[in-house]
Amino acid sequence: MSSRRIVSGMRPTGKLHLGHFHGVLANWLEMQKQYNCFFFAADWHSMTTEYADTAGIRDSIHDMVLDWLAFGIDPEKSTIFCQSAVHQHAELNLILSMITPVSWLERNPTYKEMQDNLSAKDLSTFGFLGYPVLMAADIILYRATKVPVGHDQLPHLEITREITRRFNHLYGEVFPEPTALLTESPKVLGLDGRKMSKSYGNAIFLSETAEETRKKVLSMVTDTQRVRRSDAGEPDSCVAWSLNRQYLPAVQQEEICAACRTAAIGCVDCKKVQAQALIDALAPFRAKREELTAVPSMVSEILAAGAVKAAQHAAATMLDVREALKV
Ligand code: TRP
Ligand code: SF4
Repeated sequence: MSSRRIVSGMRPTGKLHLGHFHGVLANWLEMQKQYNCFFFAADWHSMTTEYADTAGIRDSIHDMVLDWLAFGIDPEKSTIFCQSAVHQHAELNLILSMITPVSWLERNPTYKEMQDNLSAKDLSTFGFLGYPVLMAADIILYRATKVPVGHDQLPHLEITREITRRFNHLYGEVFPEPTALLTESPKVLGLDGRKMSKSYGNAIFLSETAEETRKKVLSMVTDTQRVRRSDAGEPDSCVAWSLNRQYLPAVQQEEICAACRTAAIGCVDCKKVQAQALIDALAPFRAKREELTAVPSMVSEILAAGAVKAAQHAAATMLDVREALKV
C-alpha cells in the first residue's frame, strides 16, 4: 500500500472558496479513490508567514477541515490531521535541516517572490527560508511516493527530492524519492474578474448562505462591452458566465449564449438563472456542512483520530531514521 501513498497539505487560511473546490479539493477527492491519502492542515507552514499573529490559526484549521469534510474528504478513507499534532514533522525537519545547503533554499524562486509579495511582513527568518525543508519532512515522513501539487509548488517538490537523495546517499536508502503528481486546476475567476482569492474580497464561500451567494452572483461583472440592455452581449467575455456556466445543463448553456448574443436576455435575468444553478450545485455540500457543524466536537475528534494514525506511521519512519543516522 505504501507504494500508493500520497501526502498533501494545505495551509489553514480559513473558509474555503470555489477556487479551492475546483482546484485542490477536486483533485484530493479523485486521489482519495485511488490512493492511501494523508491530508493535513499545514499550520506550522502558516506560522512561517503569520508568526506575529497566530491567534486566528486554530479557527482557520477548524473552518478549513469542515469544508474538506463537507466536500467529501472522508476520514474513513483518508488520514486527516493537523501537522502540529504530529511532532515527528518537527523532528525530521530538524534532521533534514542539518543536511540541506542554505544555497538550495536561497535560490528557490518562491522564496524571493514571496518575500517581495509580502513585503509588509518581515520574512527574513530562519523558518521562512526553511519552508521547503519542513515540506520535505511532511512528505517523506510518510514515505509518500506521490505528491499532488500545482505548478507553483514544483520548485518546493524539487527541493524535497534533492534532500531525499542527499539523505539516502549519506545514510542509506531510507526514503523513496517522491514524485510530483501535477494537478491541473482551472483558474477560477472571482466576482470582479480577477483570480478568486480571499484576500481580493471577490470569493464565493461554501460556508455562506444561499442568499449571500445569490447577492454575490448578481453583483458579478458581466461582458463590460454590453452597456445597455438592448446591446448584444458575448458570453465568452462575461466574467459571471465563465464562473457559472458549468453549473447549467449543456442545452440551457446554448440557449443562454444565443439569447445573450441577440440581446434576448438581460444580464440581471441571466445572472438570476446562474445564481440558482450555482446554489443548487452547492446545496448538498452546504447541507453536509450544516450537519457537521451541529456536532461541535466533530472536527477535533476527526483530527485527533487522524493524528494518532499519522503518528504511528511517523514513529515507524523515525525509528528507521535514527537507526540509519546512529544518532
Ligand atoms: N506548501 C504547500 C502549499 O502552500 C502546503 C504544503 C505543506 C504541502 N506541506 C506539504 C503540500 C506537503 C504538499 C505536501 O500549498
Ligand atoms: Fe453574461 Fe448573461 Fe449578461 Fe450575457 S446575458 S453578458 S452571459 S450575464
